[in-house]
Amino acid sequence: MRILITAGPTREYLDDVRFLSNASSGKMGYAIASAALAAGHQVVLVSGPVALVPPTGCEYYAVETTAEMHAACQRLFPECDGVIGAAAVCDYRPRERWQGKRTKTGQPVVLEFVETEDILAALGRDKGPRWVLGFALESQNARANAVRKLASKHCDAIVLNSPQAIGSESNRVEVIDSRGETAAVWETSKPEIARLLIDWIGQQFR
Ligand code: C5P
Repeated sequence: MRILITAGPTREYLDDVRFLSNASSGKMGYAIASAALAAGHQVVLVSGPVALVPPTGCEYYAVETTAEMHAACQRLFPECDGVIGAAAVCDYRPRERWQGKRTKTGQPVVLEFVETEDILAALGRDKGPRWVLGFALESQNARANAVRKLASKHCDAIVLNSPQAIGSESNRVEVIDSRGETAAVWETSKPEIARLLIDWIGQQFR
């Protein structure tokens, strides 16, 4: 299969030098890309800024903002069989981006934020025969939230994990299928989870 994978964080700029982001390392997404290549799939990796080298053999697109990741995915998804959304996308961006570097005034600053585009939900809406697999990082009402996202983002499966996954070498995940049933629970290193997930995808979405 030809698989689109999103990985890493996105950045939302306040001015030309300051941005909001999160601590996503990209390790899970890059491990999935490596596992997919090792299993013989074609990989299209769209990645936010991370300190990792893209695996040899993948088609690689570096992006910074959510809007850039969204545009790249919209362009690349039609040529793929499915998408794995492992990116930790910023949910909000400042309503305005200041030109240059904003100088201090000695006064508090009030910022207004608006929601960013939901990339996976947009891909899910127009997926046609393609499959969509999301990740859900939840701290409260974890499973219920994951199942809600599965439906609202038109996913065929969702991988639930917890905030401990951020930046860590290992992970504990629950794979939830399209009916909301638990398909698997794995607690191991990210590369091993990636291998098991690609295996599961291979059986599920042939
Ligand atoms: O942030 P959230 O929990 O909604 O993320 C669930 C899934 O949706 C993840 O797979 C993430 O990559 C994707 N997502 C996205 N665009 C967003 C927010 C999340 O593609 N703006």
